[in-house]
Amino acid sequence: MGIINFGSINIDHVYRVDHMVARGETIASSDYAIHGGGKGANQSLAIAKAGGVVVHVGKVGREGEWLVDNMKRAGVDVARTVVCDKPSGHAIIQVDKDGQNAIVVHGGTNQLIGRAEIDDALASATEADMVLLQNEISNVPYVISKAAERKVPVCFNPAPISGEVPTWDLSGVSILVVNEPEGQALSGQTEPEQILAAMTARYPRSHIVLTLGSHGVVYGQGTQRLSVKALKVKAVDTTGAGDTFIGYLLAGLQRQMPFADSLNLANKAAAISVTRKGAAPSIPTWDEVGSWRP
Ligand code: RIB
Repeated sequence: MGIINFGSINIDHVYRVDHMVARGETIASSDYAIHGGGKGANQSLAIAKAGGVVVHVGKVGREGEWLVDNMKRAGVDVARTVVCDKPSGHAIIQVDKDGQNAIVVHGGTNQLIGRAEIDDALASATEADMVLLQNEISNVPYVISKAAERKVPVCFNPAPISGEVPTWDLSGVSILVVNEPEGQALSGQTEPEQILAAMTARYPRSHIVLTLGSHGVVYGQGTQRLSVKALKVKAVDTTGAGDTFIGYLLAGLQRQMPFADSLNLANKAAAISVTRKGAAPSIPTWDEVGSWRP
């Protein structure tokens, strides 16, 4: 299985704050750093760091070329990542004293991914491959429908969730990975069990993965259920933990590991990532995950 990730690439401006700034409030940050980010790039990096094979389809401006170099160094195939003369996507991220974050994203070049590029990237994809995508680039429904036409399985992480996502036809998506707010938006339910019940009923062919932060992960397909407990760690920065989880989940599946084992692997990798600062820099390698003990 080759993974083709249609994904965002962002420059993350990270501000460490005591608490998230409130409406009308001005606060000082105690630390500022620039890191690589973007849900798409983070997920590609996680796959590559796990020893997986991934082609990243994306777009950055000239000031974002270092992000592409980072991905290439980690082993991501960036032959379909375009550098152009427009401003890159970026994110303004506050991380508070508990390691929780609040993020504002500006799409920039991530919103300039066109249908011709998508068609090209899918031209030789087959049922044996997998398309991965999040909701930070242009033409997301087009990617999903074109992948379906070619019978290429899709893993969709509808993050960040927007009002239009629940109106899209996601019935052909193979793996849907959502957090609680995303699951609530797609199911109309509030509690994890109900979210999972509603989503498995609405998407009976899909693997539904609902991540619950410090409460672990629950999984469902049809009537089958699994749950994975969160590992206890001291959170320094939770940014990118969900992306690490998804990258490792797919890398596990690419290695032909059973779904349950891949979920456990992903849970461990995500736990390590929250103990480190930044999104892209916090993603552990395969060896680090293998030798880590909670
Ligand atoms: O999931 C974390 C990511 O969300 C950050 O890296 C930021 O760029 C936003 O896309």
